[in-house]
Order: sequence, then structure tokens, then C-alpha cells
Amino acid sequence: MNSMRIIVAGGAGYIGSHVCVELVKAGCKALVIDNFVNSSPKALERISEIAGGDVELLEADLADPADTQRIIDAVKAFRPDGAVHLAGLKAVGESVAEPVMYYSVNLPATFTLVRALEEANARLIVFSSSATVYGALNENPIDEDGATGPTNPYGRTKLFIEEILKDLALADKRWKVCNLRYFNPVGAHPSGRIGEDPNGIPNNLFPFIAQVAVGRLPKLKVFGDDYPTRDGTGVRDYIHVVDLAAGHVAAIDYLSRKATPGAVAFNLGTGSGVSVLEAIGAFKRASNRDIPYEIAPRRDGDIAEFFANPSRANAELGWKATKSLADMCADHWRWQSGNPNGYRD
Ligand code: WQD
Repeated sequence: MNSMRIIVAGGAGYIGSHVCVELVKAGCKALVIDNFVNSSPKALERISEIAGGDVELLEADLADPADTQRIIDAVKAFRPDGAVHLAGLKAVGESVAEPVMYYSVNLPATFTLVRALEEANARLIVFSSSATVYGALNENPIDEDGATGPTNPYGRTKLFIEEILKDLALADKRWKVCNLRYFNPVGAHPSGRIGEDPNGIPNNLFPFIAQVAVGRLPKLKVFGDDYPTRDGTGVRDYIHVVDLAAGHVAAIDYLSRKATPGAVAFNLGTGSGVSVLEAIGAFKRASNRDIPYEIAPRRDGDIAEFFANPSRANAELGWKATKSLADMCADHWRWQSGNPNGYRD
């Protein structure tokens, strides 16, 4: 691991910035490629502040043909050992409204990154996939051999990219690929200096709760309390973003040592579920703030319960999520209360 040189595509984003911190802590050198469409350059300053080491930056758009050659040249000059690929659009609802935009960004970004890595002779990639690839087809806990059937264009781009990378690894045995299927990333680095900073009104539960707690939003809508779950509200596998980032370092180490070629998928989750009401209660305890909410109708596309079987990652990556729901809430709150307007402060 030590002194590996890693491209982090989308490295200024919520997950990417936490991955950069863990990579620098592990002794790696990182080159971030980011167009800041859904992130802030400030995150890079904060990464260096936290990790005590610099990351290099290439401001470019992997999906823009006008940037392709500049990206290829910079990647080659960086002499990478591999890449973590987190560059892409990621809002489920937006993908339903703008499917062609999602396909025309997420897929070409992947093609450009793969081409740049090949020209740099670095055929190792860890892809930021998503549990959304499973759709609503599997019994919980969900394992990697489960059926895939994403129910939205965002999830379909993730599955398509997984399949593209699998085909690449079959065609060229020099490629080593990990497809990391994230469950629900939440929380922030304990320093409170980097965290989730969504554009506009948050779609996801934790950033919404955090903005209610800090007074940016008046009230949370709980989307349904009539699900067949222990308290009627939706149950998800929330995983601390620092645990998630550590999973990326473990995946790079695993691939760097992997003798056999080919692509492998890993669930990154805790293996246990938390309900919406439990999350609200935990956040109230962590923030000591009230979280006003009202019960609203179910959200289209939501399912009752969804959590991981993480045993393949535990066994093969030697990785396990260690942080509790209380840690997730305390760290998310420290970020949000210290940065009420995210990186815009
Ligand atoms: C969690 C629970 C909602 C908001 C999504 C993406 C998935 C992944 C993680 C990228 C559900 C309830 C939510 C609110 C609510 N992202 N909720 N009020 O839908 O499990 O997964 O984010 O990979 O791809 O699909 O996460 O945080 O939106 O919802 O009651 O204002 O919170 O019904 O039960 P989800 P979420």
C-alpha cells in the first residue's frame, strides 16, 4: 500500500474526500480529478489539513471530450498504480427526470478514465458502485450473488459500469477490478472538517435530518410509517463514511496483492438495519436538538427493509465496519454544526 500512487476520480466529493484522507494516511500519493459540479475545491484544503499530506489536483471533466487528452497526459505524468472511480452523477430522483444526462456523464467518464489508466499502464480500479444495483429483488441480508435489477437510471449506470469493468477484466487479464456496492453512507470525518454538502434540498435522510437539526430546514417528512418493519418506517444499512473509505484502501491493497485476474463485487455495509425513527432518535441524542417531523406518504420506489451481508468483504478484504450509529450521528452533527452551509461558509 505504502507509496502507491492512486488517481481519485471525483476525489473532492463527499465519499471521495474521505477516501483521499484514508489513502494519504496509508502512505499513498493521490491525484484528484474533479470538475466540482457536485463538490468544492475547499474539500482539498481540508483533506491536506486532516491527513497532513497533500493531494494533487487536476480540475477536469472526465465526461467532456475537450478534456480527454489533457486528462490522459496528466494521468500518464502522475505514474499511477491504479484508481478509485467515484466520478459521476448520483441523485436517484434526478436520474429519473434526466436519464440521458446520467448515461451521457457516468459512462463516458468511465471510458476516459479506463483509457487514461491503460495509457499509463495502470490496470487496477476500485469502482464506487451502489447497493441500488440490487433493486427490490432480494431477501435481506443481501449478498453479492443476489439478483440485480436497478429500478432507476442512476442505479442502471452503476450496474452497466460494473459489467463494463467485468468485461474489460475478462478481455485483458492484466486488469484487476473491485466493484464496491455501498449501502447508505452517512456521517463525516471526526474532525468535522469534511462532510456531506448536497446541492439544494437533500434527497437523503441523514443530510436532511442534519439540516433540520442545524435550523436550515424546518421539518422532516417521514416517508411512510406503515411498512412491515419493527416501527413501520423504512429500514436501511447506514455505514459511517470513514468505515466506507477504509473499505476502499482495503480494496486497493487486496487488488495490489491479487494474483488472479478478474472483477469482484463487495458489499460495503454494516450488516444491520436502522429505521427512520431510530435514526431521528439517535440524531436527537447526538445533537441535543429537536428534529420536528411529520408522517408523509411513502416515497415512490422505496422498499421496506434493505441491509447488507458484508461477510465477503469481511473475509476477503479483511475489512469490517466498526463505527456505531451514535458515532455516525455525532460525527455528522459535528460537521453540520461546524459548517452550517457546508463548504459555502
Ligand atoms: C433512507 C430512508 C426513506 C428522506 C439512496 C439511494 C442509494 C444510495 C443511498 C447512492 C428511506 C427515508 C428519506 C426523507 C425519509 N445512494 N427518508 N425522509 O433511498 O435508501 O438510498 O441513498 O448510491 O442509491 O437510493 O436512502 O436516505 O434517501 O432514504 O423518510 O426526507 O429514509 O423513505 O426509508 P435510500 P435515503
